[in-house]
Amino acid sequence: MSWLDGHSAVVTGAGSGLGRAIVERFVDEGARVVAFDKSQQKLEELKDKLGDAVEIVAGDVRSSSDNERACALAVTSFGKLDTFVGNAGLWDFNRSLPDTPVEQLESGFDELFGVNVKGYLLGVKAALSALRESRGSVVLTLSNAAFFPAGGGPLYVASKHAGVGLVKQLAYELAPDVRVNAVAPGGMDTDLRGPAALGLSDTAIGEAIPINDLMAQGSALRFAPQPADYVGAYLLLAAKSQSATVTGSVFDISSFGILPRYAG
Ligand SMILES: NC(=O)c1ccc[n+]([C@@H]2O[C@H](COP(=O)([O-])OP(=O)(O)OC[C@H]3O[C@@H](n4cnc5c(N)ncnc54)[C@H](O)[C@@H]3O)[C@@H](O)[C@H]2O)c1
Repeated sequence: MSWLDGHSAVVTGAGSGLGRAIVERFVDEGARVVAFDKSQQKLEELKDKLGDAVEIVAGDVRSSSDNERACALAVTSFGKLDTFVGNAGLWDFNRSLPDTPVEQLESGFDELFGVNVKGYLLGVKAALSALRESRGSVVLTLSNAAFFPAGGGPLYVASKHAGVGLVKQLAYELAPDVRVNAVAPGGMDTDLRGPAALGLSDTAIGEAIPINDLMAQGSALRFAPQPADYVGAYLLLAAKSQSATVTGSVFDISSFGILPRYAG
């Protein structure tokens, strides 16, 4: 018996990087998953690989109706929804306050918080009635930047700290029906992009900084994790049999917590 046999999940930002690795692992463990991403092309590649275990929804996490479509598809296709994974995110490529022109600060804030914070709120709202029905759970992707400085600039770091607030408040509001937790991974070489408002939508993280070297040299455990190295925590939190008492928690799996400061 696998940990997620018969399980149904929605994963946002499922087209690449961490989200894709979560979908692949959940399916390996017996789940069926609605993969939600803005990139139709990435979703089709995932569907080609995983077949009937995956349904795909192309849309924007900043849209309540797109979130509702994704959650409704899980219920109509798989009969229920057990876990909503909010994961789609944008990074700010370490843009500091002094170096950001004020117009970009305004529009960049709206875009980045729209995805990293509003996207999570709208996703949980759309999933809520189905999660109450299944007594399921929410898992959000945060970051080392949810606890420490220098994992981004003020926009990203503030957005991930806001995620900690979401976890605590939503765990409080949704108890005892729905568990709400988060995972805070550290750096990894993915397709992670930034807000168009900051001119950062065409650059991936690994093109801008030597993320694998930074992790290998600057994290406590001295290796460069790949997305699949982070997904065990999601599996644990999604599997009620393994984490029935856990709510309101953020698992810091970034390996930065024991360092005096982040070298990124
Ligand atoms: N890569 C890192 O170093 C790192 C470190 C810590 C935390 N994270 C977090 O991990 C999560 C996943 O990022 P990743 O590194 O796998 O990047 P990624 O770009 O490979 O994956 C994110 C996915 O989200 C999708 N997406 C972006 N905006 C969207 C929107 N508005 N609507 C729908 N889909 C959208 C993208 O198309 C992409 O497929 C993010 O929340 C990120 O903040 C990443």
